[in-house]
Amino acid sequence: MRLIRKLFKLKNELFRNIFFEKRIKKTLDHKYTIYFDKKNNSEISKLASLYRTNKGYILDKNNTEGIDIKNCYSYSDFYSDIFSLSKNHVKKVFELGIGSVDTQQIDNMLPIGKKYKSGGSLRMWKDYFKNANIYGADIDKKCLFEEERIKTFYVDQGKKDSIFDMWKEIGETDFDIIIDDGCHRFEETITFFESSIDKISNNGIYIIEDILASQRKPFLQYFKKSNFNYKFINFYRPDISHSNNSLLMITK
Ligand SMILES: C[S@@+](CC[C@H](N)C(=O)[O-])C[C@H]1O[C@@H](n2cnc3c(N)ncnc32)[C@H](O)[C@@H]1O
Repeated sequence: MRLIRKLFKLKNELFRNIFFEKRIKKTLDHKYTIYFDKKNNSEISKLASLYRTNKGYILDKNNTEGIDIKNCYSYSDFYSDIFSLSKNHVKKVFELGIGSVDTQQIDNMLPIGKKYKSGGSLRMWKDYFKNANIYGADIDKKCLFEEERIKTFYVDQGKKDSIFDMWKEIGETDFDIIIDDGCHRFEETITFFESSIDKISNNGIYIIEDILASQRKPFLQYFKKSNFNYKFINFYRPDISHSNNSLLMITK
């Protein structure tokens, strides 16, 4: 029985990969492939584990801080690679999505484990980018907080007026990094992107995390028509497959 289940899983994974490749190739015609051996020394993975954000995990199963690592993505390994050279020069980081723990909020973080604590990713950025101020925003007012080098604000990412008011209140521009880890729905994500992309500096990076498999097509079509440089990055974990373990990285 176990073998049959395993074979079915393999078959599904194979079909998904073939289908996925075919679909992506229709829109994007260049790619590069990176293979790596996951070690426990990636700085951002360690911080992700320490602050219990699901952006990453470490392999040490005895040290997961009460978080179910099955629910964690692979972004921290990638972020450690792309941010390491500039980490001391980064001055401003903004992240949408602080991490609601309200059962009424559909995108809450309760499924990732009882010990999840709101604000983990903002604290992770604060520790990693030692010379940066960290800004966060969320629709759930209960998760807003302020501490040294971290400020948070209310926003509804689907509403232009709300986004405009948030940026006005923040009163900063020239962000080195903006990360959208909000609701992940196409329309609202693009509304937020169009109202926020001007806030990154000329060398800044805008990242949209968790591109749902069902929404890849509209995202890729949208960015193909735009003048932005963008990369669709898909991650693979051998132990578990997440259909949304992927992100878009956009530069001007
Ligand atoms: C995936 S969680 C963020 C997790 C956090 N970044 C972390 O790594 O620990 C998504 C967040 O998006 C927020 N959210 C959902 N819809 C939103 C909206 N329309 N505008 C702003 N934030 C929203 C939720 O309240 C939730 O806190």
